[in-house]
Amino acid sequence: MFSLILYEPEIPPNTGNIIRLCANTGVQLHLVEPLGFELDEPRLKRAGLDYREFASVVIHESLDDCLDALAKPRVFTLSTRAGTRHDAPGFRQGDAFLFGPETRGLPQDVLESVPPERRLRLPMQENSRSLNLSNAAAVVVYEAWRQLDFAGGR
Ligand SMILES: C[S@@+](CC[C@H](N)C(=O)[O-])C[C@H]1O[C@@H](n2cnc3c(N)ncnc32)[C@H](O)[C@@H]1O
Repeated sequence: MFSLILYEPEIPPNTGNIIRLCANTGVQLHLVEPLGFELDEPRLKRAGLDYREFASVVIHESLDDCLDALAKPRVFTLSTRAGTRHDAPGFRQGDAFLFGPETRGLPQDVLESVPPERRLRLPMQENSRSLNLSNAAAVVVYEAWRQLDFAGGR
């Protein structure tokens, strides 16, 4: 239903958490290279992921390749520099959520490759820097799925 795209993720446990998040919510996970780790890295395995959870992850050489493979979905970028609250849009099946790397965030040109109303920000307290990547992904996925009345879930 939804796609979650991690742009050049760097930290294995975050991607491990997100693999499990996607497996549990029926979201397809896409990783855009370069990755900061090997997908079979022991730390990912130690996160307790099983073969089926790994099997649904797709790796792409570039963001363009990823978006082509998804047949040019409606993309929402996630950034602390964005101006639209994450729960403002009405999400629909097929939407894709694009998250940045842990230490750098999304490059400005990637963030701005979608219109302002699709650049999403999760509210935080004044002077906060950012949420952990996997926490941010979980909040967005559950808000989008909630809007679809948790279709397919129980
Ligand atoms: C640890 S954060 C990156 C922090 C980076 N130093 C920056 O300033 O963007 C990793 C990713 O999580 C997402 N993220 C974290 N906090 C967020 C927030 N409050 N609103 C939207 N996205 C957030 C973004 O996609 C971000 O690129």
